[in-house]
Amino acid sequence: EKGGFEHFMLKEIYEQPKAYRDTMLGRMNPEGTKVILPELKLTNEQIKNIKNIQIVACGTAYNAGLVGRNLIESLVRIPVENDIASEYRYRSPIVSPETLVIVVSQSGETADTLAALREGHANGAHVLAITNVVGSSIAREADDVLVTLAGPEIAVASTKAYTSQIIAFGLFALYLADVRGTQSEAEVAHILAAMQSLPEQVEAILEKKDAIKAYAEQIAKHDHLFYLGRGVDYAVAQEGSLKLKEISYIHSEAYAAGELKHGTLALIEEGVPVIALATQESVLEKTVSNIKEVKARGADVLAITHEEHVTDLLKSVDQAFAIPKTLPMLTAALSVVVLQLLAYYASLALGHDVDKPRNLAKSVTVE
Ligand code: M6R
Repeated sequence: EKGGFEHFMLKEIYEQPKAYRDTMLGRMNPEGTKVILPELKLTNEQIKNIKNIQIVACGTAYNAGLVGRNLIESLVRIPVENDIASEYRYRSPIVSPETLVIVVSQSGETADTLAALREGHANGAHVLAITNVVGSSIAREADDVLVTLAGPEIAVASTKAYTSQIIAFGLFALYLADVRGTQSEAEVAHILAAMQSLPEQVEAILEKKDAIKAYAEQIAKHDHLFYLGRGVDYAVAQEGSLKLKEISYIHSEAYAAGELKHGTLALIEEGVPVIALATQESVLEKTVSNIKEVKARGADVLAITHEEHVTDLLKSVDQAFAIPKTLPMLTAALSVVVLQLLAYYASLALGHDVDKPRNLAKSVTVE
């Protein structure tokens, strides 16, 4: 059942290229210039009237929503808020019939996310669910369902569900952009082409698993570590940190790189591992100055970046790992794979039950 893999988590990490392909399959025109989502009931009229979007979810699905926000805001220019499902109802969110609520859930059974969906409905919003389980409670109650085709996810630590959710957000953002006329056909085609290259780019990362394993064995000796990044890299940092804590029980924190000096820098001491995500060219220089701040306090820094920046970055970091080149808005679908493998191998090195971490359940059906 594990298809020759030692754990479901590793199997599911390796299934990501297929999950990306399956989630995109049949969802664009043959020319690759347009996203087609015939399953949606959301009309073009409704799409044109959307004033704001609220993305609501828990855990890893919440983290996917952070990437989703970036995709929607940059491609469609509709304001997006991210909410943790268990917080959403209690903050009296400002929802109107012109609000689109997007709930994200692998299982479709998470109690807090279901409650958020109902809160959206109670306020007259249209609710779209991004889920991996067609017959789930969330899929049944939502007005619209955008299914991720990741296949069953067994390991408690979510991997292929997260990345498929990112693919689904990419498709949905391009769909909105088409209806609202915020991107040209050429731009849409360019982004879709980049999305279609992602599966083989993930395969290229998987081929470098030994280097990631070696680094994981190094960090497994530490009690604390930090993830830094800006923009999409910060969103991925949060997912990488959750993954590591969840299965290796190593304490870690994800920080927006520029926020460190507002307090957290005090925690950086000699030898503390820092994983710096540095894939966003527009803020690379700023990220490099933040890297220098932690280096100056003795941190041991691994940068995750594109090949073309490795030589330069190696002037300020200890090690660098290059991911294949993609558009800045899509890097999460690649960089996170490195962090998934890192968490996996750290957990393995520490002898933990990778697929069934202590105190956690795959599906959380209590609020
Ligand atoms: O099934 P869901 O996507 O609604 O689950 C949400 C979270 O419980 C889940 O993503 C959790 O954070 C994962 N175990 C993280 O790997």
